[in-house]
Amino acid sequence: MRILSVASEVFPLIKTGGLADVAGALPGALAGLGGDVTTMLPGYPVVLAALARSNARVERLPLAPVLGAEASILAVELAGLKLFVLDIPELYDRLGGPYSDAGGHDFPDNWRRFAALSKAGARVAQGAVAGYRPDILHAHDWQAALAPVYLAASNRPRPRTVLTIHNLAFQGNYPSHVFPELDLPAATWSIAGVEYYGNVGFLKGGLHACDVVTTVSPTYAEEIVTEGGGMGLDGLLRGRGSRLVGIVNGIDTDVWNPEADPAIAAGYSAADLKPRSHNKRALEGEFGLRREDGPIFAVVSRLTWQKGLDLVAGICSEIVARGIRLVVVGSGEAMIEGAFQAAHSKHPDRVGVRIGYDEPLSHRVQAGADAILIPSRFEPCGLTQLYGLRYGCIPVVAKVGGLADTVVDANYAAVGAAAATGVIFSPPDEASLLGAVDRTLGLYEDAGVWRKMQAAAMKSDVSWEKSARIYAGLYRDLMKE
Ligand code: ADP
Ligand code: GLC
Repeated sequence: MRILSVASEVFPLIKTGGLADVAGALPGALAGLGGDVTTMLPGYPVVLAALARSNARVERLPLAPVLGAEASILAVELAGLKLFVLDIPELYDRLGGPYSDAGGHDFPDNWRRFAALSKAGARVAQGAVAGYRPDILHAHDWQAALAPVYLAASNRPRPRTVLTIHNLAFQGNYPSHVFPELDLPAATWSIAGVEYYGNVGFLKGGLHACDVVTTVSPTYAEEIVTEGGGMGLDGLLRGRGSRLVGIVNGIDTDVWNPEADPAIAAGYSAADLKPRSHNKRALEGEFGLRREDGPIFAVVSRLTWQKGLDLVAGICSEIVARGIRLVVVGSGEAMIEGAFQAAHSKHPDRVGVRIGYDEPLSHRVQAGADAILIPSRFEPCGLTQLYGLRYGCIPVVAKVGGLADTVVDANYAAVGAAAATGVIFSPPDEASLLGAVDRTLGLYEDAGVWRKMQAAAMKSDVSWEKSARIYAGLYRDLMKE
């Protein structure tokens, strides 16, 4: 079973969030289930540099111009992934991140950059690379969402298509004047095509055109068919009926393995948690926190409204007043960054803040902190709570989306049964977050209960095993259609 996965970011080559982790880990999990995945991603400078640094054999395959731009594909195996790197210098060879320039401003031609990714994906799915024909094209998020649209609009044989929603908040909506540039048949300018309230909707079009829509947790799949959670697309999604499936994400348990993580000071396991305290001491040192007995709570996240981190910033003083130290790693909205920096200035040895993106540091935080705070207002799946579980860093999460699906709340029964793995609160506001902080502190102060929670958390199945089977079954069913 051949699958062409099309994504705008793939760990370890390029990552801004969870999408990269998923696109990077799912292929390996599918390999054992008969899934032969090739991943197509844009040839950003960091990706090309990684190819150049590696000793991997790179084969350059010609491709006819894509949306008017000179294009080729670099076929390579790297980091255990089969890759088709889409090399279009005019669109991808620029400074900055995958979506924005060095100053953080979105590239004005993102519609063209990602329409090109989708178009190239569709072409490859229909045989543009000699000897390669996938059975399934699996597109991720709005950046790849036009691929199923191009395929549905073509009258040549095409593979079945799956489109995964990682976050409905990002839809790729652009003014109607880009439509003629997309090289789509005129008929796709319609309600059943890409037209969306007079604009071009990349995700909207893909959700209509694909054979199956998936999203990254069962609860999020329920939330997005409601008016409150559908972000304008709930009607369309309701219309897809059983063609919308929620499959919870797993994590790469080799990359995130507390027993053998090169990024952390001391390895540990559920059976032997003792060495974990070295990591806590190291974290105190790294953030200049005062050394004392109380817990360290942490945040590793994009600092945005979605993630509810304004709520954490809002109760920093109350957190500190309880003898809890706080470590924050992230970047995002200036207001939230500023609020955490102010909290650090006020409590320099109790609140540690790193504004920025630092992958190894995210491992050290999960390995050293006692709890990770995730008060998201919505969360399609969330991966940081899964890393927290795996590292015995107890997740304190809002009851939304994948957070609700993956954490077992420490209620009376769950604690009694030694099944609790975290703390769940609702609604995501400052009062109930503070209530959850107090509840977590109470659990922490009972060392026996806490150790049991850590052990249960670390034993939670956060691997791709189960979910990869569901994807494989879904692909197989589609191939029979
Ligand atoms: P989202 O994709 O919505 O940002 P997820 O929880 O799915 O949320 O994934 C976030 C990923 O990005 C995780 O792998 C997390 O560890 C990582 N991450 C977020 N912020 C940072 C940061 N500042 N430094 C390092 N890793 C980060
Ligand atoms: C998105 C979502 C996040 C999810 C990730 C991977 O970034 O915001 O909840 O975990 O995609 O699916």
